[in-house]
Amino acid sequence: MTFKKNILCIGAGYVGGPTMAVLASKCPHCRITVVDINPARIDEWNSDELPIYEPGLDDIIRKTRGRNLFFSTDIPRGIQENDIIFVSVNTPTKTFGVGAGMAADLQFWEKTARQIFQYARSSKIVIEKSTLPVKTAQAMENILNSSNNAISFDVLSNPEFLAEGTAVRDLENPDRVLIGSHETESGLKARKVLVDIYANWVPHEKIITSSIWSSELSKIVSNAFLAQRISSINAISSLCEKTDADIAEVAKAVGMDNRIGPKFLNASIGFGGSCFRKDILNLVYLCRHYGLNEVADYWEGVVKINEYQKERFIRNMMTAMFNTLADKKICLYGFAFKANTGDTRESPAIFIARRLLEEKAEIIITDPKALKNARADLAGIDGRVAFVEDPYKAAEGCHTIAVLTEWDLFRNLDYQKIFDRMIKPASIFDGRNILDHRRCFEIGFNVFPTGKPALTHF
Ligand code: NAD
Ligand code: UGA
Repeated sequence: MTFKKNILCIGAGYVGGPTMAVLASKCPHCRITVVDINPARIDEWNSDELPIYEPGLDDIIRKTRGRNLFFSTDIPRGIQENDIIFVSVNTPTKTFGVGAGMAADLQFWEKTARQIFQYARSSKIVIEKSTLPVKTAQAMENILNSSNNAISFDVLSNPEFLAEGTAVRDLENPDRVLIGSHETESGLKARKVLVDIYANWVPHEKIITSSIWSSELSKIVSNAFLAQRISSINAISSLCEKTDADIAEVAKAVGMDNRIGPKFLNASIGFGGSCFRKDILNLVYLCRHYGLNEVADYWEGVVKINEYQKERFIRNMMTAMFNTLADKKICLYGFAFKANTGDTRESPAIFIARRLLEEKAEIIITDPKALKNARADLAGIDGRVAFVEDPYKAAEGCHTIAVLTEWDLFRNLDYQKIFDRMIKPASIFDGRNILDHRRCFEIGFNVFPTGKPALTHF
């Protein structure tokens, strides 16, 4: 079969895999190859056991893989055979040298740029899919155009806005697709190529275009705004706990103002995930770089409140459990950073588990999809940790349950059965406010929701 377009994606992660799978399903006339330096990851993409859990993804991969979607480790060949190249490699927070703990680590991204430069034999459109500091495209162009040969490269910015757990839905029906380009003749031509690809399934009014710099910055600012809402509601949850107000009632009243809106106002143990923290820290770093210290401080506050919220959860547990957690058996319901994913990157559960172990508690972790990652996250840490698939068995003989991930599974358990198997007095700390607190209280639990009055039998 001959294809109208040959597309490459470098980086087969949480973004590269699902994004290209949906692209392949919506554009059967395009041949799409996804490459990665990690052969184990590519093997998993080519197997029945995909490297990530994402609702609906298995189905799409089954329909497209081997038809117009291919996974490979042959990066040079991929670069040579494809004229449109998405780059979705990881851009974590730097852990060393200048900017450690704040700036984006661009080494993976830069190596990719150099590989494209080294292996390209014809002109290419190179599309930044990774989240990058504003002005990174400039550096990409400098690398790609560092020789005088006849090959030309157009760099576009096309940040990804999918959220894990809803990636397929977000990709199939995005709020918007953003494409940044230069306003030059070739920049506009390249932009049109990408607009036409998305137009296969995304309505035209949802495909927006801008300068490359606005596009790069919009991505980081979107994440900063989303995280800011969570820190705002979490900050108020602490005030609710002091004043007997109820955070759910406050969020409902505030969110019904249509200028504010109801979404992303769920109080929690704090946001996790691989991106919010890193992207805000990157924004803070950028602001400081430009001497905008007040702006940097403002955004840094979002991260500080998130740290505070996680620590506050532990402090509340300590206070409620007679100021000692030593030798207490604590069952963690959930380890993923949010429901419907196995991803645990930056999950607040990691922090909470470590802190509980520091306090010499014994922890039992249950999660429907994240136990493998949880094991890796806690490997080598001193303390008593068990991983148990069945949530009923996990809670058996425990003093308390801490709900850390909002899996539907945990909403629908038989809490009478669970209570009967626990040590008394038994308590529940609902870090996600997903349980029927009154019902749990009536069963006999002491219940400690987030941002709501506690229900105790003392
Ligand atoms: P990931 O770590 O899951 O995947 C990145 C992949 O790139 C890895 O498999 C890695 O082996 C590969 N890679 C690194 N260097 C390479 C190279 N030189 N050549 C080939 N492959 C290479 O990361 P992710 O979660 O998919 O995120 C990728 C980017 O997308 C980041 O910039 C992130 O901020 C952004 N983003 C992520 C999400 C998300 O939900 N995870 C959403 C939107 C945007
Ligand atoms: C987030 C953004 O929502 C995506 O648009 C973006 O593309 C992505 O980051 C990225 O750049 O990586 P994601 O981190 O996958 O997506 O998931 P979210 O739904 O945003 O949740 C992030 C964290 O906030 C989770 O820990 C979640 O539990 C928490 N959260 C979310 C709350 O605590 N309260 C809320 O009301 C909403």
